[in-house]
Amino acid sequence: MNNNINSIKEEALQEITKADTLSQLEAARIKFLGKKGKVSDLLEKMKKMTPDEKPLFGKQVNSLKVSIQAGIAEAKKSLEQKSERLCSFVDKIDITLPGLKKKLGTVHPITQTIEDVVAIFRDMGFSFADGPDIETEFNNFDALNTPEDHPSRDLQDTFYLENGSLLRTQTSPVQIRVMMSKKPPIQIIAPGRVYRNDTPDATHGHTFHQIEGLYVDKKVSFADLKGVLHSCARQLMGKDVKIRFRPHFFPFTEPSVEYDFSCVMCGGKGCKICKNSGWIEISGAGMVDPRVYEKVGYDPEKYSGYAFGLGIERIAMIKYGIDDLRLFYENDERFLNQFA
Ligand code: PHE
Repeated sequence: MNNNINSIKEEALQEITKADTLSQLEAARIKFLGKKGKVSDLLEKMKKMTPDEKPLFGKQVNSLKVSIQAGIAEAKKSLEQKSERLCSFVDKIDITLPGLKKKLGTVHPITQTIEDVVAIFRDMGFSFADGPDIETEFNNFDALNTPEDHPSRDLQDTFYLENGSLLRTQTSPVQIRVMMSKKPPIQIIAPGRVYRNDTPDATHGHTFHQIEGLYVDKKVSFADLKGVLHSCARQLMGKDVKIRFRPHFFPFTEPSVEYDFSCVMCGGKGCKICKNSGWIEISGAGMVDPRVYEKVGYDPEKYSGYAFGLGIERIAMIKYGIDDLRLFYENDERFLNQFA
């Protein structure tokens, strides 16, 4: 019998401590102390006992009842205190205060410009290609027909890594990667980051972005190159933009040009952005040099093609009227929020 009383006591105290709310506690009270509760069952059993057994058993049931009552009283007090604390906390919340605004990020103007340019060329049939920032000297220089003593290979211009690789100085090595992996026709656009050992100023950075374009097929001409670049310029800057080619030299194109867009900020009259010249230099371009075809195993007699670079920062500067390129990298929210 005693065993039974003890296990009821344990069960009751367990349920009482588990109760999280006053109604759970009341349910426990009814289960043990209610009219049809476990304690009443015990008293019912006492009726059938002999007069000898009754006094001891009665004492034990009584003490069980007292312990359960005490447990319930204590638990009730602590639940009430808890709910008081909660109420006073809720009273202190000022629901009329304005909420905290979530800050939303925006697409960075450089990323936006890359996306715009890639979309323009995608519409003209170019597909996307890319290559790694860490390149081999072969892809960045040798295969691009750059002589051993060319100044661009100099430590002053190129960041070399200890293992002999380098941070690519241009996106042109992607041309090599693509041509070595497939046969013409090839029509790709490849945006990416490039690195040069330059001292940063308003118009130069040690890290900047280019987009490489390459089109190789049968009978591709310089007129095709002019056409796509002009079309890209008009879509980016509006139909009044002019494009200008200046003779230049690149080891991997022949003939080569540097090309400029007319400054849309001043309509070509001259302003701070174009340094009063009316033109903004965008990058270089030209017809792929037959020596490059030899390096990648194409027949120079069979194929011709053009390649071009696009300086992304330059385009973003004229598009958004920004005269210092460092603004793009300082991540000042006051600057970036203007592109939201
Ligand atoms: N890679 C050259 C540069 O960074 C630009 C260029 C690309 C020139 C493609 C010709 C053809 O200056």
